[in-house]
Amino acid sequence: MSRVAYVNGNYLDFNKSLIHIEDRGYQFADGVYEVFNVSNSKLVDYDLHLKRLFRSLGELQIKSPISKNTFIYHIENIVRMNIITNGLIYLQITRGVAPRDHKFPKKQKSSIVITGRHSSEDEYENKFKKGIKVSTHEDIRWGRCDIKTISLLPNVLAKQDAHIKGASEAWLINKEGYITEGCASNAWILKKDNTLITHPSNNAILTGITRTSFIKGLKKHSIKFKEAKFKVKDIRNAKEAYATSATQHVTPVIKVDKIRIGNGKPGKFAPTLRDVYMEALQLK
Ligand code: PDD
Repeated sequence: MSRVAYVNGNYLDFNKSLIHIEDRGYQFADGVYEVFNVSNSKLVDYDLHLKRLFRSLGELQIKSPISKNTFIYHIENIVRMNIITNGLIYLQITRGVAPRDHKFPKKQKSSIVITGRHSSEDEYENKFKKGIKVSTHEDIRWGRCDIKTISLLPNVLAKQDAHIKGASEAWLINKEGYITEGCASNAWILKKDNTLITHPSNNAILTGITRTSFIKGLKKHSIKFKEAKFKVKDIRNAKEAYATSATQHVTPVIKVDKIRIGNGKPGKFAPTLRDVYMEALQLK
């Protein structure tokens, strides 16, 4: 067996792991997920991810298929069985299998899948050194972006459009013209007065775990920071810009559409900000 996946109580060959065709995740995107970063075979900010997972489940009234303290056992098994030193764990829970009917099934047996994959440190380092390009898109998502649901079609469309435009992330703009977040990361700018800002934590964004730990680090080091909304005109005036997520840590943004950030290279604060985040995260 090469790659191993945990699927509803069993450890299976990744390539032979299957989910029922009437799983509500497949038919309605009725489920939630988490992406955990693995660094030197340790889980990054495990407790915060688990807390957010249970919040997402609660908001959608999906029962956890396993008890809260069993998650770590299965996740660590996936790390170990797939020999992941640096990589990602993907965990998905759906409302389970039932004949297709929009309302919740009477008897819910939620489904769980845990997979892992290696990630290349070089790829990350490369992005960090070069910075990434971002394109902007209308935010057409629903009103509960705070829930980490697998229903990601607007994010998928924005990311594909960004890809076609040669950008690696899409920043989403709401009806009032504010940048809410990226389609798979939180969005940040450094203003001329050296204050870092990111959209406030509310239903319009997913409160990223990377964002949370980064803020903890910023506070610890008394780096000027504010939860505040920003528009494209603020990006035009920004000194630096960043994207944060479990997959990208703190990555410098060098271009947003046609707007060059700073001198078009990662900002001078990038190494410090990354260190601040790395110091603040918790390993398990
Ligand atoms: N995405 N906002 C959105 C819409 C996201 O999808 C993500 C993460 C984040 C950052 O959250 P965190 O710091 O907890 O990773 C913000 C994951 C990585 C994904 O869908 O692959």
